[in-house]
Amino acid sequence: MAQADCNSSRDNRWLLNGMTALVTGGSKGLGHAVVEELAGLGATIHTCARTEPVLNECLQEWKMKGFKVTGSVCDVTSRTEREKLMSTVSSQFDGKLNILVNNVGILYFQRTIDVTPEDISLYLSTNFESAYHLCQLAHPLLKNSGAGNIVFMSSVSGVVSVSVSLYGATKGTQFNVFLI
Ligand SMILES: NC(=O)c1ccc[n+]([C@@H]2O[C@H](COP(=O)([O-])OP(=O)(O)OC[C@H]3O[C@@H](n4cnc5c(N)ncnc54)[C@H](OP(=O)(O)O)[C@@H]3O)[C@@H](O)[C@H]2O)c1
Repeated sequence: MAQADCNSSRDNRWLLNGMTALVTGGSKGLGHAVVEELAGLGATIHTCARTEPVLNECLQEWKMKGFKVTGSVCDVTSRTEREKLMSTVSSQFDGKLNILVNNVGILYFQRTIDVTPEDISLYLSTNFESAYHLCQLAHPLLKNSGAGNIVFMSSVSGVVSVSVSLYGATKGTQFNVFLI
């Protein structure tokens, strides 16, 4: 095979044409980069965030780049909003989802002795419960797609101690989610 053909078939292997993805927290940071990467490879994406104007700006930008990205406002710490999000995704993608990227996560630097009960609840609902429940909600859609994948944006702090004990504890939970 000529080098050019070889390169092109290698590139084609990574294409995601016809695939669907839900990326949580796609309006900023790593989530924004993941949306752009997946959309650039041809996937159709739905994303969410809490701040509507920022989300709408991103959607406009992606539309101008020719990416197939939709979005909705959702606070993933709310069980009802997570259910609404998955119902939107299901109707938009005809009940089939290839990729779920659990990207939303929070990190505030604070000393362990300063952590309050409210901090613990917020970290658990944002970094752990939301991702866990979204996996459960996405399960039938992932199965229907015939090739479902889940990605957790975890952290090295979930494996080794790096002075953010509460964050690390919630990120460590993400290594233990199995769906059968
Ligand atoms: N940045 C790093 O160096 C690093 C390293 C290791 C792991 N990670 C992990 O990677 C993920 C992304 O990190 P990042 O630094 O890119 O975050 P970021 O820049 O703070 O962006 C977070 C995104 O999630 C959205 N978001 C936050 N809370 C939300 C909620 N309750 N419901 C819905 N959307 C919410 C934000 O939009 P709104 O604020 O508008 O909701 C934003 O789009 C996190 O899970 C983080 O723990 C990051």
